Amino acid sequence: MHMVDIIRRKRDGHELSADEIAYLVNGYLNGEVPEYQVTAWLMAVFFKGMSFEEVLALTDALVDSGERMDLSELETPAVDKHSTGGVGDTVTLVLGPVVAACGVAFAKLSGRGLGHTGGTVDKLESIPGFRTGLTHQEFVSQIRKTGICVAGQGAMAPADDGLYALRDVTATVESDPLVAASIMSKKIAGGAGAVVIDLKVGRGALFGNREQAVPAARLMESIGRARGVRVECVMTSMDQPLGNAAGNALEVLEAVKTLKGQGSADLAEVVIALAARLLTISGEEWEGPAAAAEARRVLEDGTALAKFSQWISSQGGDISFIDDPGSLELAPVTAHVKSESSGYVQSVDALAAGRAVQLLGAGRLRRDESVDHGVGGVFRARTGDGVSAGHVLATIYARDRAAAGEAVRRITAAYVVGAEPVTVKPLFIA
Ligand code: URA
Ligand code: CA
Repeated sequence: MHMVDIIRRKRDGHELSADEIAYLVNGYLNGEVPEYQVTAWLMAVFFKGMSFEEVLALTDALVDSGERMDLSELETPAVDKHSTGGVGDTVTLVLGPVVAACGVAFAKLSGRGLGHTGGTVDKLESIPGFRTGLTHQEFVSQIRKTGICVAGQGAMAPADDGLYALRDVTATVESDPLVAASIMSKKIAGGAGAVVIDLKVGRGALFGNREQAVPAARLMESIGRARGVRVECVMTSMDQPLGNAAGNALEVLEAVKTLKGQGSADLAEVVIALAARLLTISGEEWEGPAAAAEARRVLEDGTALAKFSQWISSQGGDISFIDDPGSLELAPVTAHVKSESSGYVQSVDALAAGRAVQLLGAGRLRRDESVDHGVGGVFRARTGDGVSAGHVLATIYARDRAAAGEAVRRITAAYVVGAEPVTVKPLFIA
């Protein structure tokens, strides 16, 4: 097999065989196929697409590139969730404990932040002592003991990690077959029987609108059907940051607030909706409204908060921040973004806000960089809110004055305040 022939055939719109796809994925992983050929192939796929058979073959090759989590020794079915990437998403930190508190095992492998979007592993690592690098056995026994485990991707689907890094720098992320195979390979390798995928739609997201997200959603559901994983897709709005906080430690604190019933309503709403779907497809007896009611109950009566505490401490984390939020280290320099005029918040550009938070150091500019857990933004005014001149729209946590000033400039530009009241678009798109 020659890589140049594979590229040429894809360029000309032909269907590749499963063997050809496995050849290029494995060749890339072991260094026999150079990156420039892989990226040429990615661009050909971007323009010519893939048949469903090709998408399945790519998914399988990505799964087979690494280890696969075996959860069969668990007594109960396990569920998982995935987000296509948002700004201040925070959902997993609250959803996991809610689902586990309802008695359904939550088994999730998470990634690090990518571009302007945050990653759950980075967020969890802002908790002193918390371990995200678990062995297979530790992962399973953690679920046994507490009903929840969230760990790093480890040795699962390593070829996806490499391909994603190439896509990120070659403008080939936004391709439905590549997105679907990437996400589904990680979900299949993770071993859960049922998965809810939260497709973020809007300004700060992979998909600009509902029409763009639907084909990718259908594709992932079809891959799930073909490979024995129940997959359900939910589309939620990512026009503005979700909840108030964006940044690693800030989002951990936001999760605690939400679990205490003091968080922002939009985050709680997404958590309850996703929990309801997860419980419904888990194979346990839950369904629809009863599942949503149970999720709401554990969130409101403190059961999910107790589960969060048990989870964090059993993965090695110091839980003092739960009762004493001040004990979690935040960056020392704070600055406020204030409204220049009176009126209503017309929009908060999630992409610009995410970029500002990333540049503060909460995300990486290069893959080998480490993140600053203590920096970020708290977005106090949301789309539709009435504000007067001088009203604090957002608070920034930065390492130094210069970084704070730059973030203030960017976040000021992310807010549009105008005279007209606005109707807020629904959080749930489909
Ligand atoms: N998230 C992923 O994990 N992969 C993609 O390709 C896009 C979003
Ligand atoms: Ca948030």
